Amino acid sequence: MRTIKNIAVLTSGGDSPGMNAGIRAVVRTGIYNDLNMFGVLRGYDGLVKGEIVPMDAKSVANIIQRGGTILKTARSEEFKTYEGRKQAYENIKTLGIDALVVIGGDGTFTGASKFIEEFDIPIIGMPGTIDNDLAGTDFTIGYDTAINTVVDAVDKIRDTAESHDRVFVIEVMGRDSGLIALRSGISTGAEAVLIPELTVDYDAIMKRLDKSRKNKSSRIIIVAEGDKEGGEVVADKIKENFPHYDVRLSILGHIQRGGRPSCMDRVLASRLGVASVEGLLEGRRGEMAGLICGQVQFTPFNKAIKHIDKINENLTRIVEILSL
Ligand code: F6P
Repeated sequence: MRTIKNIAVLTSGGDSPGMNAGIRAVVRTGIYNDLNMFGVLRGYDGLVKGEIVPMDAKSVANIIQRGGTILKTARSEEFKTYEGRKQAYENIKTLGIDALVVIGGDGTFTGASKFIEEFDIPIIGMPGTIDNDLAGTDFTIGYDTAINTVVDAVDKIRDTAESHDRVFVIEVMGRDSGLIALRSGISTGAEAVLIPELTVDYDAIMKRLDKSRKNKSSRIIIVAEGDKEGGEVVADKIKENFPHYDVRLSILGHIQRGGRPSCMDRVLASRLGVASVEGLLEGRRGEMAGLICGQVQFTPFNKAIKHIDKINENLTRIVEILSL
């Protein structure tokens, strides 16, 4: 097993609340183990450009409660090319960096897998995305904060919807995943939730809206951004079917990615940060540290990026049963 003395950490892809808690945990675990720690700025872009800075215990002080990422993040086009990755390798070799911890989602792990394959660098991943769309962990870092942000916003929209007897179609984030929509839908009492993983049965939804007419003065339909049609089309279809409804569309957007991380996200990021560095020291590579049923587990990158089996159809059933 090779000796690891110098580790760099980076955040990549869309940011998520709790990434800072993760950076802090990685840096401090490294220092606790007498390693030299580095931070890469702007994800893989910084690796290609050589924007790599030393980090000590103080450089991660007072960040556990902050949203965003102090290391900044990017979706790097250069790192997708062999030349870019070769340049990145030269940069870390020059600094003597022997391993990486990457915090991000499927794009981050796909890039990491290629880098390991071509340049034999040990890399451990941490799941940092609000979408919760990774296998190998029950929850990703940032998901809990994001769904609580959505719940807060939808509760406020419900107040005005109720006052005006309106139907609100609310589009939430989730490019390929309905997990933000599903949990926030259940916890706000949404009348329907539309997600990319399942085919929408419009007839059933229209019937449900119509059936509940006498009981309700407001109706909320949550649509995941990645749904085949999206919030705008769904709102138009409801208007078409129910011309007497007063329908409004609200797209929550990037507010879902910001804010102070919840306690759950801070603890998750702290546990996985410690596990990532310890995993590297034990000789692990090419795996994501995740939490399954309360236990830290490692999942190979190629399995972690296949999230499709994650939709629990019981959750969609609950929406229907409780929307009477
Ligand atoms: O972080 C994932 C995500 O939130 C997706 O749900 C969304 O489609 C995407 O990021 C949008 O990110 P950006 O605006 O940074 O491209």
